[in-house]
Amino acid sequence: MPTCKFFKWKIYIMDSLLIKGGVRLDGEVNVSGAKNACLPMFAATLLTDEKCVLKNVPNLSDVRFMADIVKALGAEVSNPVEGVWEIQAKNISHIAPYELVRKMRASICLIGPLSARLHKAEVSLPGGCVIGARPVDLHIKGMKALNCQVEIERGYICIDARRMRGAQMYLGGRFGSTVTGTANVLMAAVLAPGTTVIENAACEPEIADLCKMLVGMGALIEGAGSPTLTITGVPRLGGTQHSVLPDRIEAGTWLAAAAASKGKVLVNGAQKKYLSSFLDILERAECPYEVRSQDSIYIDATNVKLKPVEAVTLPYPGLPTDLQAQICALMTQADGISIITERIYPERFMHVPELARMGANISREGPSAIISGKTKLSGAPVMASDLRASAALVIAALAAKGETHIHRIYHLDRGYDSIDKKLQLLGAKIERLKNSD
Ligand code: EPU
Repeated sequence: MPTCKFFKWKIYIMDSLLIKGGVRLDGEVNVSGAKNACLPMFAATLLTDEKCVLKNVPNLSDVRFMADIVKALGAEVSNPVEGVWEIQAKNISHIAPYELVRKMRASICLIGPLSARLHKAEVSLPGGCVIGARPVDLHIKGMKALNCQVEIERGYICIDARRMRGAQMYLGGRFGSTVTGTANVLMAAVLAPGTTVIENAACEPEIADLCKMLVGMGALIEGAGSPTLTITGVPRLGGTQHSVLPDRIEAGTWLAAAAASKGKVLVNGAQKKYLSSFLDILERAECPYEVRSQDSIYIDATNVKLKPVEAVTLPYPGLPTDLQAQICALMTQADGISIITERIYPERFMHVPELARMGANISREGPSAIISGKTKLSGAPVMASDLRASAALVIAALAAKGETHIHRIYHLDRGYDSIDKKLQLLGAKIERLKNSD
């Protein structure tokens, strides 16, 4: 988000999006690299003093924040061409201050690599989050299991990892496994003497891709992509080149957008093997799709009459919470009552009142959104509140009659690479209004 300084006041200048709805998306779209894979990967580059090259990195503000953080810690960071980042962390600091970390929760992923490489870490705790409580108790539990001393002081997680060693642990909480918690413990364990077994590890493809990168650096990991990770610590890791996997959440968002606009879209980078739970929703909604290759899916929703669905978000391979808001937007176009229940972040419903402002018949009951369709949505000024809620508003705007003005789209820019340009290529009537909010 750009800022300008006016005397001692900081004025935030934000872009907004103007979308004229009712146009069917038509064409091909390329999915970018996965945000939630590459953020911990930037942290993983701190595990070695050799150069790491990350490819297929999406152009996102969250990525630039993460790059700024590793740079501020002392790493040499460059972005020689679009999508490629080179990072070499020869001499780094163990302190990640609040001013850097507060911009992005994923910076919590620094505690594992810093503890492993420097045997100590001081990382500011991230602040609150609009999608609900986001505790870090499991990250701490995992680091303690590795025999680290962990204290919370002055808003920082302070870790003494001098006696770190491998251990067996169960890393689940009342909402199941933890994605960045698994990433943290994994990145610490790769350099911890002995063997670590993480039970109830996150099975998300982004964690499996992180394992792949770490193995490329010389780590010994078994069970990537499964709930049991076995890691044999090695004394040091080396550099690597790694290409980030495509973003399954972006792919799902495009499929939902195509369906809501009754369009025909080929989504390149949509990998069926990672989208089964979402494709199951499309099947139950009677929205046909065609798997064209192992990484492309075609959807033709021109004559579709969507059926309502009941769905529950769960850790992978369950339905991703990161697609819940987009599904809510899509189900406003289904004939009947849909019930979408959130089991990861029970408060993640900021999109509900904004969708209602566009005419959706949607209400929240506890951890569920109840949507009664089909509704003729109408364009309205709306406010993006978080990344995925913003994506839901884009989908609703495409299906709506008239013009929708989405404010505060810096949330979208955190997680969707060039969303406005990609939508334009699919024929959407969309305009980015610079400095307009
Ligand atoms: N949890 C705990 N204790 C912990 C950690 C998590 O109780 O110490 C709970 C959380 O409150 C939540 C559940 O466990 O109920 C899962 O949280 P998780 O730790 O898996 O979330 P995260 O690692 O902080 C990542 C993604 C999120 C995504 C979630 C769930 C990154 C950088 N972020 O967050 O992505 O929603 O996993 O899949 O990987 C997004 O991209 O929009 C986004 C929010």
